[in-house]
Amino acid sequence: MEGTAEVKASTEQAKLAMEKGGVVVLDFGGQYTQLIARRVREQQVFSAILPCTTPIEDIRKLQPAGIILSGGPSSVYDKDAPKCDPAVLAMGIPILGICYGMQWVAKNLGGKVEPAERREYGPAQLNVHKVDSHLFRNFPDKMKIWNSHGDNVHELPPGFHATGRTANAIAAAEDPKRKIYTVQFHPEVNHTDRGTEILRNFLFTVCKAEPKWSGTAFIQETVEAIRTKVGTHRAICGLSGGVDSTVAAVLVHRAVGHRLTNIFVNTGMLRKNEFEHTLEMYRDRLGLRVVGVDASEHFLNKLKGVSDPEKKRKIIGGEFIAVFAAEAQKLQKKEAHGDIKFLVQGTLYPDVIESVSVKGPSATIKTHHNVGGLPPDMPFGLIEPLRDLFKDEVRRIGKELGLPQEILVKHPFPGPGLAVRLLGEITSKDLTTLREADAIVVEEIRRAGLYERVWQAFAVLLPVRSVGVMGDGRTYGLTVAVRVVQSDDAMTADWVRLPGEVLERISTRIVNEVPGVTRVVYDVSSKPPSTIEWE
Ligand code: XMP
Repeated sequence: MEGTAEVKASTEQAKLAMEKGGVVVLDFGGQYTQLIARRVREQQVFSAILPCTTPIEDIRKLQPAGIILSGGPSSVYDKDAPKCDPAVLAMGIPILGICYGMQWVAKNLGGKVEPAERREYGPAQLNVHKVDSHLFRNFPDKMKIWNSHGDNVHELPPGFHATGRTANAIAAAEDPKRKIYTVQFHPEVNHTDRGTEILRNFLFTVCKAEPKWSGTAFIQETVEAIRTKVGTHRAICGLSGGVDSTVAAVLVHRAVGHRLTNIFVNTGMLRKNEFEHTLEMYRDRLGLRVVGVDASEHFLNKLKGVSDPEKKRKIIGGEFIAVFAAEAQKLQKKEAHGDIKFLVQGTLYPDVIESVSVKGPSATIKTHHNVGGLPPDMPFGLIEPLRDLFKDEVRRIGKELGLPQEILVKHPFPGPGLAVRLLGEITSKDLTTLREADAIVVEEIRRAGLYERVWQAFAVLLPVRSVGVMGDGRTYGLTVAVRVVQSDDAMTADWVRLPGEVLERISTRIVNEVPGVTRVVYDVSSKPPSTIEWE
């Protein structure tokens, strides 16, 4: 039952963003599923990922131009191997089966799949057959591809013919009459030569999709869908000051205007002037209706005497929910129409933690945004307009929406904020120290023209005192660690080789301008084994 509800939620979500004529990616749990959807969108064709278990009527309603069946970690013969409704193959909608998707097609249409004598992982050579395949038209005889499979298709289903092989296996096959195309390798990864061309051939030659998806189209469609969904009701949104929740709020604001109320909580763990500055931007520059809640004293009290990092995170998460829920309840009582029915969240695809596919879409909300655990007596429907997108896509949408550049390029900031950058127990005095030091780091990184070129730059306050000398006196002051990292997705990161002059300016300014700090160190650890944040 639960699975069904999840599938329904995710289909609704897809409808929220999907224009007719897009591509549905049915997910068998593959590690590259999100990449497939993204590659399709790069060709200006909208694509949304749905669990492989999505009922066929729901797929039909979306009127997709094509369906892509993703890869997956299982063998089609596993007892609990993920499945689609086989009727998907008879809808007359063009199909591209990738890896497990190919094996699932082969098995269902009467072919044979067996464990490979030689598993194929990583690079291989594809020998393209001299047949007139839409996918490989005008391709060279040989090309480099990327594989990741243990099973092979040994016997093709009736109506299919092979269009390519590796030394070990059939690597591509198709039944053009039924418009079903399959590849054993991964055209979506960069290591496959001409992978983009293969996808383009499927999209434009086979599916006859139109490249009309763009930021503008996304905005129009999404705003329209949100308007229909919210109807005459109201919505609330928890803003974090970051790009994701801001873009989500601006989209919903476009759709329903002041029937969206945003809540922006000051946990006391924000950066220097961030609460006032962000609130001003939301209200004056973006015209949003925002309730600013300054709960910093409350958070500080709750954190008194706590130094364990996990405990700090838990307390902040829990209190955030409590503050947010209380504000939402107050609003609900106050609103003339009294019917806040929806909660807006800036969830992105990478935040959808579990694979959407096999178990159904994850209902898990980005817990660090801390509105995931709202009390059950506040039954809000969710609006997550960015759920299918990646961060850079969201930034592009934000740009199209005319958001100020400063928000588009803002560095990521953890939900618990400075609490995880102030090691040990949090006091108001140390928070001030950290804020001042952090502002200097960011200012100098900006001054050096590096702000938009690095992933994150910030200060950490260490509970370590060391001996120093200032003027004629001996000091015993605090230590600030400076962290500047480069990263593509925060999964891995490397420390940035800052020019000596920049380090020097940061260090001199911190010890001169921030009372109590006598030592500055630079963090030269990469992730892994370290993490970006210190707690
Ligand atoms: P780590 O420290 O795990 O951080 O390498 C990876 C990225 O995630 C950010 N981060 C968070 N973001 N809530 C968030 O929204 C959190 O609790 C949280 N903890 C870490 C971190 O800043 C980095 O970009």
